[in-house]
Amino acid sequence: MIDDQQSIMAEAHDSLTSTRPQVGWSEQDPADWVTAAENVMSALSAKTALDGVRGIGLSGQMHGATMIDAAGDPLAPCMLWNDTRASQQAAAMDADPMFREVTGNIVFAGFTAPKVAWFASQQPALFAKVDKVLLPKDYLRLWLTGEAVSEMSDAAGTSWLDTGKRDWSDELLEKTGLTRSHMPRLVEGSEPSATLRDSLAARWGLPKGVVVAGGGGDNASSAVGVGVVKSGDAFVSLGTSGVLFAASDAYQPDAASAVHSFCHALPDTWHHMGVILAAGDALNWYAARIGQDVATLTASLGPVQAPSRALFLPYLGGERTPHNDADIRSAFLHLDHGDDTVALTRAVLEGVTHAFVDNFHALTATGTQINRLIGVGGGTKSNYWVQAISTALDMPIEIPVVGDFGGAFGAARLGMMAATGAGAEIATRPKIAKVIEPDTSQTSAFLDAHSRYRASYSALKGLT
Ligand code: XUL
Repeated sequence: MIDDQQSIMAEAHDSLTSTRPQVGWSEQDPADWVTAAENVMSALSAKTALDGVRGIGLSGQMHGATMIDAAGDPLAPCMLWNDTRASQQAAAMDADPMFREVTGNIVFAGFTAPKVAWFASQQPALFAKVDKVLLPKDYLRLWLTGEAVSEMSDAAGTSWLDTGKRDWSDELLEKTGLTRSHMPRLVEGSEPSATLRDSLAARWGLPKGVVVAGGGGDNASSAVGVGVVKSGDAFVSLGTSGVLFAASDAYQPDAASAVHSFCHALPDTWHHMGVILAAGDALNWYAARIGQDVATLTASLGPVQAPSRALFLPYLGGERTPHNDADIRSAFLHLDHGDDTVALTRAVLEGVTHAFVDNFHALTATGTQINRLIGVGGGTKSNYWVQAISTALDMPIEIPVVGDFGGAFGAARLGMMAATGAGAEIATRPKIAKVIEPDTSQTSAFLDAHSRYRASYSALKGLT
């Protein structure tokens, strides 16, 4: 919760888990989102009075397919952004040139449309009951306001949006057996979408008529939160996924590459993005396997060193950028008797670092400008990791003072814009706590290690 000066007044959070019932699947129960939002709102209203609230913004994980019936009940668990079960449907759609032409993007397995096509092929009777297909934050909006609305940044990740025109494509929807009536109405992220239900306002002590902004996908919202809204500005996000995000004043897609070209959460603005499916998730996986916590593992690393001989490829659930490969899986390579937990931890962090180098090359090859980089997400608590990335990219990375709010701070800004009519000018850059500089004595060692990493992907590809 922020005040008129955008200072943080209160915060509350709750956590979610996902399940992987089969190889390549990744799901959550939408009811858990409602429970978490209830918990957060109760915690917030216990901390502070909410009767001055004027606007709410929403931010959420992208690409999830939440299919609801006419009563608003989910017909299945939500298939998440890192669910790759629909790789065949994605390849079939991607072979139809219209998808890339209209959306400006490859149809990736994790995007919404192929997952809905998978559901239609596996559960035709349930598919016939689909009334609306909603992205995760838009399902929460339906619960909060009673209205089915989405906004451009998240809609761009469905494979159904005409990304240049910022509107649903009737032709693409039709190719998946859907029509516009199955989709939420669209607004810009900074525009009002609907108002909070009176019953919920009364429960939490908010005034009547609080405006809910369009909001944004988590990456676009994070960008609004750290002022990445103009060409040349970019961030590196070390969350569950890893994202290299660059804002763009114009729509300049390169659908032949695995770079994502999406709408930003602000009008007339777009962005380019490279996505690593398992960044923080790779470290979480490794920590859980050896029964340790991430903070302990990363605390003992000291200053950045030349990359280890041991390599880790972080493809635990396939990879998006630059490979568009749902089948590839992870490997530790070149292990030695002497490799201990610290060596393997470094290999995991370095593997994700090399994946960021791949993403940087993919983005710059499309002509995307990256003049400066801000670091966001929980993984930026590790100086070692940020310095490894800074060294490998040969660019300083700025770490903001404001802590790890993910997309929430940007969502609050979007809520403020929708409630007050303020524009992009309030999406200023944050105060910077520290700038992590590349360690130039290690640059060439990181370059060599990256070449070995690339060669290992090709070798591993031969084994899948
Ligand atoms: C972006 C993507 C992820 C999710 C994570 O395309 O799939 O960054 O948004 O929540």
